[in-house]
Amino acid sequence: MQITSFKQYEEDYKKSVENPEQFWGEVAQNFQWRKPWYKVLSWNFKDPEIKWFEGAKLNITENCLDRHLAANGDKPSIIWEPNNTEEESVTYTYKMLHERVCRFANVLKRNGAKKGDRICIYMPMVPELAIAVLACARIGAVHSVIFGGFSAKSIADRINDSQCKLVITADGAYRGNKQIPLKEVIDDALIGCPTVEKCIVLTHVRTPVSMLKGRDVWWEDEVKHVNDICEAEEMDAEDMLFILYTSGSTGKPKGVVHTCGGYMVYAGYTFTNVFNYKPGEVYFCTADIGWITGHSYIVYGPLSQGATSVLFEGIPTYPNPSRFWDIIEKHKVNTLYTAPTAIRSLMSFGEEPLIGKDLSSIRVLGSVGEPINEEAWHWFDEKIGHGKAPLVDTWWQTETGGIMISPIATVTPTKPGFATLPLPGIQPILVDEHGKEIEGNGISGNLCIKFPWPGMLRTTYGDHERCKQTYFSTYENLYFTGDGCLRDEDGYYRITGRVDDVLNVSGHRIGTAEVENAINMHAGVVESAVVGYPHDVKGQGIYAFVINPEMHGEAELTKKDILQTVTRVIGAIAKPDKILFVSGLPKTRSGKIMRRILRKIAEGDTGNLGDTSTLLDPAVVDEIIEAAKKQ
Ligand code: PRX
Repeated sequence: MQITSFKQYEEDYKKSVENPEQFWGEVAQNFQWRKPWYKVLSWNFKDPEIKWFEGAKLNITENCLDRHLAANGDKPSIIWEPNNTEEESVTYTYKMLHERVCRFANVLKRNGAKKGDRICIYMPMVPELAIAVLACARIGAVHSVIFGGFSAKSIADRINDSQCKLVITADGAYRGNKQIPLKEVIDDALIGCPTVEKCIVLTHVRTPVSMLKGRDVWWEDEVKHVNDICEAEEMDAEDMLFILYTSGSTGKPKGVVHTCGGYMVYAGYTFTNVFNYKPGEVYFCTADIGWITGHSYIVYGPLSQGATSVLFEGIPTYPNPSRFWDIIEKHKVNTLYTAPTAIRSLMSFGEEPLIGKDLSSIRVLGSVGEPINEEAWHWFDEKIGHGKAPLVDTWWQTETGGIMISPIATVTPTKPGFATLPLPGIQPILVDEHGKEIEGNGISGNLCIKFPWPGMLRTTYGDHERCKQTYFSTYENLYFTGDGCLRDEDGYYRITGRVDDVLNVSGHRIGTAEVENAINMHAGVVESAVVGYPHDVKGQGIYAFVINPEMHGEAELTKKDILQTVTRVIGAIAKPDKILFVSGLPKTRSGKIMRRILRKIAEGDTGNLGDTSTLLDPAVVDEIIEAAKKQ
């Protein structure tokens, strides 16, 4: 199923559009099914109802583990690189990983978990995180991984939304020179989570933790009580595999649901093609498993293809900004898949950290999560790829399950700043604000997809109507991505950023409404408005306009109090970079905040604010501009 020439790409693309069922049916033959499907696809975008590989039975872990054992059991599956350089890296062969997953799957069963139960995972980037994920899939439980940067309140909201029965965590996590007390955060979260019966705790940083009798058990003790034989649960192709919460333009994150069969096919197919993965190569994705990139391109995609996947616990700049390059040299990494924010941050250290590093193993480079600016693109291409490694700028989303628009390494001619062309099976269209298709090249519009693909979300957990409203109602019969996009004269796609009220901060998706809700929870704050502004390293920074809060002490202290509140309510990742106290916000007569104006002010572009005549109080704009200048 690997595409090896541009001609083949064109042929496959054509076939995938003209006869999608035959195309995906053939791709799916490359996976292991317990029972075949009787129908490749049935769908409508109105409800929406999407079913791939109907009637088929499988277990994704048999595809990620068991099927590699006979020929490749001794091949490395995961290479773990710890945060602390004094610690040794650890290699898990496919046999070892299989054994650990089966054993832990039995631990889950021993603790009452069964098919269909939801399990929350809040862990550091250690192999046990991948093991926990796969163990859930092994027994047919639905995992909901929560990124380690979220607060107790965010965790509790997510656990309650999906009614998790079990939590898997660790005593703590390392992050550069910091330690994060994961279990303590979980303890705070679980005060308000009545559905959680058990909490399994891995020892990692060896910090003291409180273990509640009857609820909390140690990972290390539990695995001693079970064996390593665990037959995989037979799953329907459309059974739920996981839930992953993501931000949107409303205040409440939604649980994006992916199912077993289609997601597996799509993650595996896109992995092998986009990265042109060759057996025996070492692949390194620097994302966290707490986000979709880690799900699809550290765990499921690579393992389904028998690849060797590096799992890195630390951060790019610890203990110094050579860390990625040391890892590449040490493990002879062939593919590096990372985020523009990491590239920009490493770029800022100049060339010194690269001196003497052997990066000759690098064959393919990848970028994900946000638009990559040309400067970062060229630096990555020249300094890391030495102009010889194809750089794939991969556009996709939590909801899409896998990469959608991207070059295919060694096949698609690349162009800086462009995600280039849709992968086979993906039918993008650009529409104007009324949903009318804008045809031809050299045009811009809102990016929609007009035909289903196997990896797409099926629903938002517990609220199908919300899924319909968010993705399928803006434009009739189209999946709306929320992104703006340009299609140039060559038909190449360039994603220009979100067109809704969602920010992309260091590749993390954060809804402005969510941040506003958090700020407004501070005792002294009545109202606020949050917008994004260009940030050199993060891509976008968070700018909060807060209507004069009741001060407790001086203004600076009150700003810090607000930051503390946001950290408590969402997590440190959502902390505003700038806070400006103002006496009012630019509102229309109907009370709607005109964010367009605030965005311009945040960008420092106040020359042309457009039409402000509909504002209730136009004078407030001048006042905000003055205050912003003084900041
Ligand atoms: O705006 C797009 C941006 O990230 C959003 C999806 O965020 P999330 O669901 O968190 O998934 C991130 C990892 C897949 C998109 O709507 N985005 C993602 N990749 C790119 C991108 N923007 C431009 N270029 C990309 N390559």
